Amino acid sequence: MNNLGNKPSLAVNIGGIGMQNPVTTASGTFGFGQEYSPYIDINRLGAIVVKGTTLRPRQGNVTPRIVETPAGILNSIGLQNPGVDYVLEHYVPYFKSLQVPVIVNISGDTVEDYGKVAEKLSVAGVAGLEVNISCPNVKKGGMAFGSDPTMAAEVTAVVKAAANVPVIVKLSPNVTDITKVAEAVAVAGADALSLINTLLGMSIDIKTRRPVLGNIMGGLSGPAVKPVAVRAVWQVYNAVKLPIIGMGGISNADDALEFILAGASAVAVGTANFVNPRATLEIIDGIERYLVENGIDDISDLVGAAHK
Ligand SMILES: Cc1cc2nc3c(=O)[nH]c(=O)nc-3n(C[C@H](O)[C@H](O)[C@H](O)COP(=O)(O)O)c2cc1C
Repeated sequence: MNNLGNKPSLAVNIGGIGMQNPVTTASGTFGFGQEYSPYIDINRLGAIVVKGTTLRPRQGNVTPRIVETPAGILNSIGLQNPGVDYVLEHYVPYFKSLQVPVIVNISGDTVEDYGKVAEKLSVAGVAGLEVNISCPNVKKGGMAFGSDPTMAAEVTAVVKAAANVPVIVKLSPNVTDITKVAEAVAVAGADALSLINTLLGMSIDIKTRRPVLGNIMGGLSGPAVKPVAVRAVWQVYNAVKLPIIGMGGISNADDALEFILAGASAVAVGTANFVNPRATLEIIDGIERYLVENGIDDISDLVGAAHK
């Protein structure tokens, strides 16, 4: 409460998607939402971001696909998902029943695939699309779309032309200068950005003397990546004017506040959901408490405040 006894405002707007608070979920760690409904009241979240969806169903990579590391996990799930038509038939009716916006994360092997998925998902019940550009471009020898500003811009433009909902482009940290990709996708029409995706890593079993993951390499997430993610948000906030959803190692409200101070308008919780399914709700309550304790009426006053 401020001195007038009013609750602070937590509402944010991410590229046209209105959220009652700045906390959402990171794709791939929250299924299609339904999986978490026995544990938390999903309607208390700002939004949910669901699993990466592709044009055709995907079985994912060979196992093992997850390995624990000292401060996080490595995963090589390989975008296992039932395909866009299944999502439209089986999950979109559930999305419509929720009171919070549902953002669908999309992936593709080609620019054309991204466009087709975006068009199919431009339906009631889907509030926005988050474009995962960390996938390999099969037509360009498997180089990740997100590692090259030109390819990243191309995907963004195709998705923007195909979609009639806001488009959030999710940036990869596996680049030399993340601001170059951010600037390119901003020019190509992105409505918002989310960052960061996982950091490429690997782990070797010294007993078998073989890589642990079936796919050899995987993506690192969890507390270990947080300083990298905060740095990326800080740099991108300085480079472009788009709203940012910050993520990478957020486990509690203090972590989330760091991202907001660095320039994120919203935050997403990923790996922490596996440890504590209630993490998102605790983070919302913790952010609200921080605002009250510091006499701040509106969360937007904190966004990027560390730059001042
Ligand atoms: C098991 C797992 C699956 C993931 N699947 C996706 C995905 O389908 N699409 C995507 O854009 N990011 C995916 N991610 C990346 C997360 O959304 C997030 O960007 C990353 O894990 C950093 O956040 P965290 O440290 O809070 O987990 C996945 C991460 C994990 C751990």
